[in-house]
Amino acid sequence: MRLECSLYTFSIFVLLFPQSWNHQETFSETKDLSIVLGSSVELPCTNGSEWRHNGSFLVLSPALHLHNTSLDDQGFYTCHNSNGEVLKTVRLQLGYPPSKPDVHCWSPSYPMKALCSWTLPHNPILPTYYISTYGRLDDTFSCQRPSEQDRQCVLEDLELYSNVPYLVNITAVNALGSSSRLLPVIFEDIVKPDPPVDVKATALPGKKLHVQWAPPPSWPDPVNFPLKYKVQFQWGDTANIMGPIELESMVRSGVMPGRTYHIRVSVMDLLGNGQSSEWSDTVNITMPRS
Ligand SMILES: *[C@@H]1O[C@H](CO)[C@@H](O)[C@H](O)[C@H]1NC(C)=O
Ligand SMILES: *[C@@H]1O[C@H](CO)[C@@H](O)[C@H](O)[C@H]1NC(C)=O
Ligand SMILES: *[C@@H]1O[C@H](CO)[C@@H](O)[C@H](O)[C@H]1NC(C)=O
Ligand SMILES: *[C@@H]1O[C@H](CO)[C@@H](O)[C@H](O)[C@H]1NC(C)=O
Ligand SMILES: *[C@@H]1O[C@H](CO)[C@@H](O)[C@H](O)[C@H]1NC(C)=O
Repeated sequence: MRLECSLYTFSIFVLLFPQSWNHQETFSETKDLSIVLGSSVELPCTNGSEWRHNGSFLVLSPALHLHNTSLDDQGFYTCHNSNGEVLKTVRLQLGYPPSKPDVHCWSPSYPMKALCSWTLPHNPILPTYYISTYGRLDDTFSCQRPSEQDRQCVLEDLELYSNVPYLVNITAVNALGSSSRLLPVIFEDIVKPDPPVDVKATALPGKKLHVQWAPPPSWPDPVNFPLKYKVQFQWGDTANIMGPIELESMVRSGVMPGRTYHIRVSVMDLLGNGQSSEWSDTVNITMPRS
């Protein structure tokens, strides 16, 4: 990551300043500077006589003043002496300090783990990274992410039926500052299974409709942590819900020959913890007329 970054900087530098790329001393002096978009900045340069921006002439002056900066002001600034030699290189980046992340936590895999995901309400423009932790009493754990860039993390080994909430702490950090969102979490309150899968509908003789489905694969233990299901039948402008039931199939009688039914299923923890899943995919069936 670091190597890639400096290689990138290096290649930009070579591209923009071919005349000075072998000037080792100058190259190593590149200074990163981040400021708030729209603010002003002054770059002094002792013994300097001229500033260039991305290699193009900008101003004849030892000090550079930028007012009401815009994104076009980003890039590489070089200060040159009267012989054209580079005295100083500044890489200017513009943006904002991060705002408080909006954090959402839920558990499709109770009682094994929970997930938290987040977004930033305002784009800080600058590269921003996140620190994600959760803690309770005196313990703090890292909320694991597959990669640094991911805005989702996994909480594991949470205590069940605890009345002391875990405190999830998502902190956004960039060159201009940091901002934390703290979210109290009780495991049972954030249960939300993924939708049921493999929904199938079959017409049975005697104006009956058989519907079956499978529990969400992300729910680890449907035997010890059972689920209850609701089935929605929709035709024309009418919708009607059957359930909740603990089974993974049901028969609806009195369906109309020739009518098309749109069927979907949702699932909830049997004890009523947390929320129902979103609806499953819809299956459609047209009842035979015979
Ligand atoms: C500026 O120039 C003076 C005289 O040439 C020199 O003594 C001094 O070291 C230079 N300062 C810097 C920061 O380059
Ligand atoms: C700063 O720049 C923006 C657009 O780049 C402009 O709308 C605004 O009026 C400027 N503000 C000042 C104080 O010059
Ligand atoms: C200078 O280069 C940066 C990228 O390094 C770019 O964002 C910026 O728009 C460029 N500005 C000008 C005036 O060339
Ligand atoms: C949240 O996490 C940040 C970054 O690790 C830390 O600086 C801050 O103190 C934490 N806040 C609380 C209340 O634990
Ligand atoms: C079922 O019908 C709905 C509404 O007409 C439609 O949006 C959906 O794509 C259909 N699903 C399948 C699997 O055909």
